[in-house]
Amino acid sequence: MTLLVVGASGFLGGEVCRQAVADGRSVVGTVHSGSVGVSGVVVRRLDVTDRAAVRALLAEVRPDAVVATPYRYDDWAVTADGAAHVAYAAAEVGARLVHLSSDALHAGRPSPYSDDDPPTPVFPYGAAKAAAETAVRAADPGAALVRTSLIVGEGSKQIQLCRDALAGRAALFTDELRCPIDVSDLAAAVLELVDGDYAGPLNVAGPDAVSRAELGLLVARQEGLDPAGLKTTTGAASGLHRPTEVRLDSARAVGLLRTRLRGVAELLA
Ligand SMILES: NC(=O)c1ccc[n+]([C@@H]2O[C@H](COP(=O)([O-])OP(=O)(O)OC[C@H]3O[C@@H](n4cnc5c(N)ncnc54)[C@H](OP(=O)(O)O)[C@@H]3O)[C@@H](O)[C@H]2O)c1
Repeated sequence: MTLLVVGASGFLGGEVCRQAVADGRSVVGTVHSGSVGVSGVVVRRLDVTDRAAVRALLAEVRPDAVVATPYRYDDWAVTADGAAHVAYAAAEVGARLVHLSSDALHAGRPSPYSDDDPPTPVFPYGAAKAAAETAVRAADPGAALVRTSLIVGEGSKQIQLCRDALAGRAALFTDELRCPIDVSDLAAAVLELVDGDYAGPLNVAGPDAVSRAELGLLVARQEGLDPAGLKTTTGAASGLHRPTEVRLDSARAVGLLRTRLRGVAELLA
C-alpha cells in the first residue's frame, strides 16, 4: 500500500508521515519550499498550482491513497486550485483521497456546526477552503473532507502565537471560539480515514471550545508563563471580518473512529 502525503513538510503532513512510516506503510511525501523531517519517506518536490506536474507525479507514483494538506493562508491558487488539481489527479489514478479542510469555511454562530452544514465563508481564506471542498467533491465524490480546527502540539504555530501574545508580541482574540485538536490525534484520525471509505465532510476536532485568549491562558499555565502578560483584542476592534464562534460537532467522527479526540483542557493540563 503506497500512501502519498501531499504537503509532507507541513505540521500535520509531517505527523501523518511519521505515523504512517511507524505503521510500516510505504510513504511518498511532497515538499514545495520545505523539507521532511521523517526518515523512511521518499521525498518528491511538487507545486500543487502546476496541474500538469500534479497529474504527472500521481501517474508515476500510482498511490493507493492520498492525504492532501497544502494551503497558503493568503494564496487562492494553492488552497483552492491546488486542492482541485490533487483531487482530479487522485481520481484519475483511482486513489483514495483524504482532503484537509477547515472550520474557517464557517461564518460563526452560537450553535455548533454539524458535518453536513454547507460553508458560509466570511473571509478569503475561508472562501478558498470552501471552494476547495466543492472542487474536491466534484472531482472525487468518494473523498473524505476532514474539517478540522486549530492544530496544537509540539511545533504548532497556534501555540507559538500564544507564546508570542504572552510576551506582548502578538494579541489573541477574545471573540473567536475554536475546538483545538492535537496533531497526533488528527494524524491518527486521517490515517483511519485513509483505510476506510467515508465520503464527504467530517468534523474532526477536539471537544473543548475555547477562545484564542483562553488557549493562551492554558498555554501560560502549562508552560509556567505569567498570564498577566497576555495581550488580547477582538476581531471587531481590529477591524477584521473573521469567523467568530465556530464549534465543530465531532460526534460522527467520535462514533466512526477508534482514535480518541482529546480536548485542549486535557492536552494542556
Ligand atoms: N494549522 C491549523 O491550525 C489548521 C486549522 C484548521 C485547518 N487546517 C488545515 O490543515 C491542513 C494542514 O495545516 P498545517 O498547519 O499542517 O499546514 P502547514 O504546516 O502550513 O503546511 C502547509 C503545507 O502546504 C505545502 N504547500 C504550500 N504551498 C504549496 C504549493 N504551492 N505546492 C505544494 N505544497 C505547498 C507546504 O509545503 P512547503 O512547506 O514545503 O512549502 C506545507 O507542506 C491545511 O489544509 C489547513 O488548511 C489547519
